[in-house]
Amino acid sequence: MRVVILPDAPSVARFAAEAVASTIAAKSNAVLGLATGSTPLGAYHRLIELSREQKLSFKDATTFNLDEYVGLGPTHPASYRRYMNENLFTQLDIPMEQTFVPIGNAANLLSECEEYERRIADAGGIDLQLLGIGTDGHIGFNEPGSSLSSRTRIKTLTEQTRRDNARFFASFDEVPTSSITMGIGTILDARSVLLLATGTGKAAAVQAAVEGSLTASIPASALQLHRAATIIVDEAAAARLERISYYRDSESERLRLGLNQ
Ligand code: F6R
Repeated sequence: MRVVILPDAPSVARFAAEAVASTIAAKSNAVLGLATGSTPLGAYHRLIELSREQKLSFKDATTFNLDEYVGLGPTHPASYRRYMNENLFTQLDIPMEQTFVPIGNAANLLSECEEYERRIADAGGIDLQLLGIGTDGHIGFNEPGSSLSSRTRIKTLTEQTRRDNARFFASFDEVPTSSITMGIGTILDARSVLLLATGTGKAAAVQAAVEGSLTASIPASALQLHRAATIIVDEAAAARLERISYYRDSESERLRLGLNQ
């Protein structure tokens, strides 16, 4: 697991955008796994800039979002489909039919989950998966206790997650109680994974995920099993890491050995 500590949230955003850009530079038809929430917004702004400057094209890329609220249709103001369309897709040259977000109001939710897994497999699997982390250690909406080998399925949201996300809704009561989410097994199948975390609110979850035991109680700790997982944090989110000087030394060594190209 690589841990990269950067000065602030804009640096985290730039790092993530560069990782996406180099994935597409290496493979124009890359398959990207995307997240919503506040954390990736800076990276998405940078990707839009790169695309406007004609330095990056998404026309052959395919994207799969991690999750969607059960009960919210694609046009609901708080749906993740709407968030992705507004904050990214409509501002890139990606054809909308190459973007996938689980359908939260599908008539048959169980077959929607199975279909989603099938679509990812048909696309050849995910090359780069972007992740945020919940204050309870969730990735996607895999809440504490989620099976470490889970696949896309319906997952009940914890009260803590619903409170954290209430800022996107008119009131707490309007926050849906369930989601469709890629499973932890689905996420671990991605060829590389980039988890972004910024702010002091994420420091405890980051420490538990990176340095705590591998446990379903901290779903993000499953990334310890991944051979190409990178954790990108700002100073605030890194504040509780016990091996912080080792992570800094490792990055200096990478630079010295020319491993960052
Ligand atoms: C969103 C998602 C969630 C968020 C996490 C952090 O698609 O899967 O796991 O990444 O809840 O959210 P923010 O970035 O809003 O703190």
